[in-house]
Amino acid sequence: MTKKVFLIKAAELRPGCARKIDIEGGDLALFNLEGKFYATSNLCTHATASLADGEIVGGDCVACPVHFGEFHIPTGQAMSFPCTVDLRTYKVIEEGGDIYADLDEESEEAASAI
Ligand code: FES
Repeated sequence: MTKKVFLIKAAELRPGCARKIDIEGGDLALFNLEGKFYATSNLCTHATASLADGEIVGGDCVACPVHFGEFHIPTGQAMSFPCTVDLRTYKVIEEGGDIYADLDEESEEAASAI
């Protein structure tokens, strides 16, 4: 099943940036990594922090703004202490300059890592 929701126009989020986007039942963090878009849950799995406010480090990880634990953005994998629980990821669809997420599917990278 597909639960495709519009997130943003691609041109609204520059490479190297992230944005919190409200979705049904919560929010997600959308990242632009060198022109490719990724979506993860926005809430850090360690405590209460918005990962969209974190810093993108090493090209494909986000450092939480509160205790600086890191997650791999394409797979959602927790990479460093104190984060031990992976993030939920969402499949991102780009169509005609619009960015959508499929809320029922994991990112391709996370799905292939399972
Ligand atoms: S709240 Fe994110 S690392 Fe603690």
